[in-house]
Amino acid sequence: MRAMTTSSNHPPAPPSDPGLTRREAIAVGTVAAAAAVAGAAEPDRAGGGRAPLAVASENGLAAVARAVQRMEAGLAPVEAAVEGVALVEADPEDVTVGYGGLPNSDGVVQLDACCMDGPTMRAGAVAALEGFRHPARVAYEIMRRTTRVLLVGEGAARFATSLGFEAENLLTERARKIWLYWRGQMSAIDDWMATPDLIEDPDVQWFIHEHGAIAPQGTINLCAVNAAGELGGTTTTSGLFFKIPGRVGDSPLIGAGLFVDNEVGAAGSTGRGESVIQIAGAHTIVELMRAGASPRDACLGALDRLVRATRVPYLLDADGRPNFDVKFYAVTKAGEAAAAAIWAGAKYALCRAGEEARLMDCASLYPAPPPWLPRT
Ligand code: GLY
Repeated sequence: MRAMTTSSNHPPAPPSDPGLTRREAIAVGTVAAAAAVAGAAEPDRAGGGRAPLAVASENGLAAVARAVQRMEAGLAPVEAAVEGVALVEADPEDVTVGYGGLPNSDGVVQLDACCMDGPTMRAGAVAALEGFRHPARVAYEIMRRTTRVLLVGEGAARFATSLGFEAENLLTERARKIWLYWRGQMSAIDDWMATPDLIEDPDVQWFIHEHGAIAPQGTINLCAVNAAGELGGTTTTSGLFFKIPGRVGDSPLIGAGLFVDNEVGAAGSTGRGESVIQIAGAHTIVELMRAGASPRDACLGALDRLVRATRVPYLLDADGRPNFDVKFYAVTKAGEAAAAAIWAGAKYALCRAGEEARLMDCASLYPAPPPWLPRT
């Protein structure tokens, strides 16, 4: 394996892989080389090379702060990441993760999560888990206590119960009303109606305003690196709103919603999971960084690959661009970090030791999103 190049003083050789697109080739060679020749600072390397550091999706501002605190207290990055996202999993206001997450089409909250430890490359994951608000902690225990990686459905629930995780109803009143509204307005020829009191309900109005009529998905990904350059990460979600029961997205799939390799870095995703799965998104980012790309260019290179893999008409707008969003997040062993989205305007959360957590602009492939694009 090729060693990672982290210094702009030593730009990597251009890639020899003939399968790389121009944008991917730029990602792994030309940009870094140009910056080095000019002696320029690399503005995309938001981590600044100082660790410990944590990066997350926009809903992870408090989570990155907690993850950095936990790493400073001596927790491994993977455990610090899982403890960081626990804040969001427990937050009923976040309808995309854990307790309060929007349910599947049957009105049942099914959660997906994974975690991965860079030094050992061990991983744990759960999919379609019902009744436990901290799926990332359950995934962590699978990683820690078993020789397996992924447990699903009832088996995952039984595993959680065996370890003393408390089962509970995760469907909040707010999420239930939003689901009833969704069911009532799906079709004029089924048996369900969205009554005026439901439509006017403040929680339903909030949902319509924030998420529109199209069913999107939200998630939290958090990647972390400590002062020793050890990496870890986690991704946790309630998945696509009103999904087909049993549907599993990218979040619990190692290599798609998360990938961590202590030789290189960590990466994760939020957004339309099926599209991330199709290109093994997080793994692709780590491999682009292994070849020398900065986190920003690796995220953009993977998004470029994802867009080129999006070929079915129902996923394209009138200009042939994706009618959805995906965001990628990446951090290197040296503490460099960035994120990128298909559409401009997205933010991500970043915290490094000794500093306040803050929101940063994601790089993007395309300018401002069209008004119909759901927030993810
Ligand atoms: N990225 C979350 C999902 O598609 O379920």
